[in-house]
Amino acid sequence: MTTGRNDVTIHVQEPTGTRVSPDLWGLFLEDINYALDGGLNADLVRNGDFEATGADRPGWGPLTGWDPEADADGVRVRSDRPVSAANATYVRIGAGSRLTNRGYDPEGMLVREGAYRLRLAVRRAAPSASAHASLTTADGGALARVEIPAAADAWSWVEVDLTCTATTRAALSIDVGEGAVDVDLVELRPVDSQGRARLFRPDLVETLRALRPAFVRFPGGCVAHGYGLDNMYHWKRTIGPREDRVPMPNTWGYHQSMAIGYHEYFLLCEELGATPMPVVAAGVCCQNVPGGPQAIPQQRMPQYVQDVLDLVEYANGGPETRWGAVRAAAGHPEPFGLRYLGIGNEDVVDAQFADRFGQLFDAVRERCPDVTVIGTLGPKPYGPDYDAGWELARRLEVPMVDEHSYRSPRWLLQHLDRFDHYDRSGPAVYLGEWAAHSSTMRSALAEAAYMTAVERNSDVVRLSSYAPLLARVGSTQWLPDLVYFTDDDVRPSPSYHVQRMMAEVRGDRVLACAATGHTERPQSSPAMQRVTLRSSGSTTRFTAIRVGGTEHPDQVVGTEGTASLVTDGTELELVATRTDGEEGFVVGFGGADGETVHEFQVGGWRNESLILARRDDGIGNEVDGPHPFGGVRTEVPLHVRVTVQGARIRVWLDGALVHDHEDDLRPWPDLVAGATTGPDGGAYVTLVSLADEDRTAHLVVDGARGATPATVTTLAGGSPDVGRPFEACPVEPVATAAELADGRAAITVPAWSLVTVQVGPAT
Ligand code: AHR
Repeated sequence: MTTGRNDVTIHVQEPTGTRVSPDLWGLFLEDINYALDGGLNADLVRNGDFEATGADRPGWGPLTGWDPEADADGVRVRSDRPVSAANATYVRIGAGSRLTNRGYDPEGMLVREGAYRLRLAVRRAAPSASAHASLTTADGGALARVEIPAAADAWSWVEVDLTCTATTRAALSIDVGEGAVDVDLVELRPVDSQGRARLFRPDLVETLRALRPAFVRFPGGCVAHGYGLDNMYHWKRTIGPREDRVPMPNTWGYHQSMAIGYHEYFLLCEELGATPMPVVAAGVCCQNVPGGPQAIPQQRMPQYVQDVLDLVEYANGGPETRWGAVRAAAGHPEPFGLRYLGIGNEDVVDAQFADRFGQLFDAVRERCPDVTVIGTLGPKPYGPDYDAGWELARRLEVPMVDEHSYRSPRWLLQHLDRFDHYDRSGPAVYLGEWAAHSSTMRSALAEAAYMTAVERNSDVVRLSSYAPLLARVGSTQWLPDLVYFTDDDVRPSPSYHVQRMMAEVRGDRVLACAATGHTERPQSSPAMQRVTLRSSGSTTRFTAIRVGGTEHPDQVVGTEGTASLVTDGTELELVATRTDGEEGFVVGFGGADGETVHEFQVGGWRNESLILARRDDGIGNEVDGPHPFGGVRTEVPLHVRVTVQGARIRVWLDGALVHDHEDDLRPWPDLVAGATTGPDGGAYVTLVSLADEDRTAHLVVDGARGATPATVTTLAGGSPDVGRPFEACPVEPVATAAELADGRAAITVPAWSLVTVQVGPAT
C-alpha cells in the first residue's frame, strides 16, 4: 500500500471483548425551549387553558395569547363554577364579542389545507346563546367558520371540525352573537388521514424517530425536580382528563399546560420504539432556588415514595393492577415496558438528598426489581456533587449513575480516554445530559469523537443522551440544542446529524481499531499579550492597570463595550469599581492572536460566583469554580491580581487567592476512529476528522476476504465553523457505495468531517 503525505491508516482488528450496550443512544426530552406546548404538541392554540399567570412569567395572565375584541357584554375572565378545580380560570364571552388566538408565532398559527379539530369546554351562560369559531388569514380573510353548539347550562365538551382551504398564517376566533358563552381548554389540532386529531407534530416525531432512540428520558432536567417544592413534577397531576390535569409554571419561564403529560410521553416512547426513562425528583427540589434545595417533609415521604412506585405500575402493571387499570381506561391496556427510572437530577448530594434518595431507591429496588435505577452525580463531570454522588451510589449499590457534561469541544477531545479508566466493578454510567458548547461542526465532531470513546467503553457507559433535544426558534432558553424548529420548519443541527449517523452504525461488539499517520493538535499555554475588560449588565471603571510592570491608562467599560489592551508580562493587577448596574465584570487575558483567552469572571451568574474560564476559538468552558461570592457592589473597588507561570494561573481578589489552576494542555488528535461488529459478520467503522485538509484513510479490516461491499456515509463540514444556532446545518450526510478488496479500501475523509463505513451488504 502506498500512502501520501496526508494519508492515515485505520486498522480494524479482533473484538476487544466489550459488548456495545443495545440501549446506548437515547433521547433527553425536557419541556425547555417550548419543546412540548408550541413544539411536539400538535395543538396550535397558545394558553388554551387560560391558566397562564405571572408565576409563569411576569406580566402574563389568563388572556396571554388571546386578543379580546369586546362589545356589549365583553370578555370576562372568571373562576366561579369552573370546569374543574385544577383548571379554575375560564372566559365568559358576551354578546357581540370575540376572542382571538394566533398561536405561538406573532405572525399567526400556521394552518394547511385540510381539517382541524376544535375541542373545547363550553357552557351556555345566557338563554339562546349562539357562538361560532372561525379561522381567518392575517388580514382577516375567511378560511373556515363553524357553529359551536352551546346548548347546555353545564360544562360540556364540544368537538367540531374546521376545514381550511389554504396554507397560510391564521388566527382562531371564537365569537358570540347572542347571549353569553363560557369557554375553557381550547385546542385546535390537525386531523390525520384516519380522521383523528393529531397529538404530536409528525415532522418532529419523524425527526426523532430517525435517531433510533433506545430510550426517552422525561420530564427533565430541571423540570423534574422543579423551581421550589411547589414546582416539582408530580406525574399523577399530568394524566387523565385534560380538565383535571394541573398546569404549572415551567421552570424555564413559561406555561406548561400538561396537555402532553405522562400518558402521552409513554405513547411517544411507544411510537418511537423506545423504552421510557422517567426521571423523578429525589424528594428534593432544584438547588438554584432562593434558600437552596428543599426536601419533601418526612411525613409526606411515604406518599411520595408510593407515587413513584405507582408510576412504575402505571407503565408496567397489568390492567388488573390499580394503576395499570387507570392506564387501560386511558385506552392502553398493554404495558409500556419501562426499564429505567432516574431518581434525582443534578442535585446537591448532601445528607438531606441521601436520605430521600435512599428511601426511594430502597422501595423501587424491592418492589420493582426489573427496573434499573439511575442515581445522580450533580451538574458536572467532576466536583463535590460528582464525588459525593459516586460515593453514595457505591455505598447503596445503585446500578447506574447519571453523569452530565456540558463542555467545550476542546474538553471533550482532551477526555477521550476518560471512560477507559472508569471502575468496571461499580455502578454503570448513563451520560444523561451532554453537549459541546456550540451549534457548529467543531462541537458536533468533538461529540462524534466522544461517542466513539463512549461506545468503546459501553461496558461501563451503557446509555447516553444529548441535551437539550428540541428548541423553538425565538423561544429558547438554552443553547446549543439538537433540533431547532419553527411552525413550518425542522432545522437539524450538525450535532443532530452526528447523533443520527452514530445511531445508524451502533454495532454489537467493539472491535480493536488503530489509527496511524494523523497528528496531535498542540494547545496554547496561558498568556498575557492581550488583556480584555468587559462589564456586561453594568458599567465598570478599571484603574491602576499594570501588566508586567507597565502601567496602562484607566478604562471605563459599559454594558456593550470591551476594552482591549496590548500588553506583555506574566502578572496583571488592576482595581475594578462598578459605577452602575447590577452585575459584575470580566478580566480576560490571552495570546496576541486572541484565539485562546482566559477569563476571570467576577460576579458570574446572578452576581454570586467567581469563575475562571478558558475560551478557545470563541468557545468558553469554566476551568475552575464557580466559587461562591458575595457579589460586586456599586462604588466598592475590588483589587484583582493574576499571575501566569507556564500552565499555572493564580488569581487573587482583594488579596485572597480564589483560583490556583493548572491548565490542561494535553493535545488532542486530529483523527479519531472506532469500530464495532456490523450485521452479517461485517463491521462498522467510524472516522472523525478534526483536520483542516482532506485526507485518504487506508482502511484495513482483518478477516475480510475477496470483494466486500461497503456503504460510506460522509458528513463533510469542510470547516469547523460551519453551523449556527437556530439554523439547519448547511451540510447533510451523503451515502455512497464502495468496495473492499481483501479487507482494504481507500476512503476519502474530508476536512472536519464524520465518515462512517458499513462494511458488508447494505441493511
Ligand atoms: O438541558 C438543560 C438543563 O441542563 C437541564 O434541565 C438541567 O438538568 C441541566 O442543567
